[in-house]
Amino acid sequence: MKIGIDALGLAVPDGYLDLADLARARGVPEAKLTGGLGTLAMAVPTPDEDTVTLAVRAAKDALARAGVGPEAIGLCVVGTETAVDHSKPVASFVQGLVGLPSSCRIFEAKHACFGGTAGLMTALDWIAAGRARGKKALVICADIARYGLGTPGEPTQGAGAVALLVSEDPRLVTLDPETVGTYSRDVMDFWRPLDSKDALVDGHYSVQCYLDAIEGAFASHREKAGAIASEPGYTDRFAAMLYHVPYGKMARKAHARLRQLDGDADPDASFDRLVGPSLELPRIVGNVYTGSLYLALASLLATSARDLDGQEILLFSYGSGCCAELFTGRIEPGARGALADVPAALAARRRLDVAEYEALFRARDEDEAEAPPRRPSGFSPRFLGVEDGKRRYG
Ligand code: HMG
Repeated sequence: MKIGIDALGLAVPDGYLDLADLARARGVPEAKLTGGLGTLAMAVPTPDEDTVTLAVRAAKDALARAGVGPEAIGLCVVGTETAVDHSKPVASFVQGLVGLPSSCRIFEAKHACFGGTAGLMTALDWIAAGRARGKKALVICADIARYGLGTPGEPTQGAGAVALLVSEDPRLVTLDPETVGTYSRDVMDFWRPLDSKDALVDGHYSVQCYLDAIEGAFASHREKAGAIASEPGYTDRFAAMLYHVPYGKMARKAHARLRQLDGDADPDASFDRLVGPSLELPRIVGNVYTGSLYLALASLLATSARDLDGQEILLFSYGSGCCAELFTGRIEPGARGALADVPAALAARRRLDVAEYEALFRARDEDEAEAPPRRPSGFSPRFLGVEDGKRRYG
């Protein structure tokens, strides 16, 4: 049975901050952010956008691209680390706003940036076990990445959602659930206390944890994939290698580690060919946490100049805390054109100045407390504010 991603939908805020502008405002060299971190811009949400509105927009985009209605969905998992409530799942808001059927199993999965992949693996197993009975799964990865103003993490923010429609006989990417390599470990690299909107991070340690995780997940994948995966040069079979992208340089470090483990003495030589196209969109959107790896996949499909039909790809998902998985897929014929419209849509976004960005950052806290939010995004649905303690959307 072939199982995988049948359609992919995206939602990104309309405003972005150019990191050259941020560098000037913070008094750091522009080259540190654009070259040292490898990110050019980060998406900035308005206060009427939240994890729910981004998730709903991405879900509707995925359904429209697949040409199916909400009644086709039998399982909906929202992976997020920036939920809007400690109890009510984002998936329930999505169910109401998208119109998913009442027979649909819905829930939210939290594990830092790994929550979306946890949902994807659940969806693959649900279909493989024969529980889908002709229905599809909708896995939505939605987040607003926030660190404090002026902190080292500030240039690695972003916001957005990626929705994956998962089914039999997928039209984009067939995935292999048999050889998923897993690594997990209790580490304190990145966290967000229950009363805080901003993430806290031990930045350099988090980079080390990510690299340890790729090593562990690759070892686990090799064990499951058999002798061929242990031969030096195994990763040469892949047409693209995709990583979780908190910022572009992290993908470069991950690629170097993985290729070195595979016996490559010059891993940088293959970086542009194997990783380059997958970074085109992440480098202008920033870290979207759970959706990051899948934004990289969208980027590959939307921007690769190479013929990818029938080619194998390798994917690495990392979530702080931590849990990581490394898995493989095969690009279905014609998939490369499926997201051709996305780069132009992102290029049409509005460049904010630093004062606007900082005002939006602060307004997010204020507007949570007093409905309705000012500064509308122009997107639908909108977060309308909190009334009687309840979040309202329209
Ligand atoms: P920092 O301390 O400000 O930066 O924070 P730095 O001093 O480490 O410099 C960064 C790079 O810029 C270095 O390159 C410098 O050499 C270079 P590297 O040595 O790493 O190759 N550099 C320059 N390059 C050109 N011209 C210059 C210049 N100056 C310096 N003038 C840090 C960087 C990433 C730690 C910070 O931004 C941070 O804490 N970010 C948030 C945490 C993060 O993204 N961690 C990544 C791994 S964990 C992860 O991915 C999970 C996550 O997504 C969350 C989740 O799972 O939910 C975060």
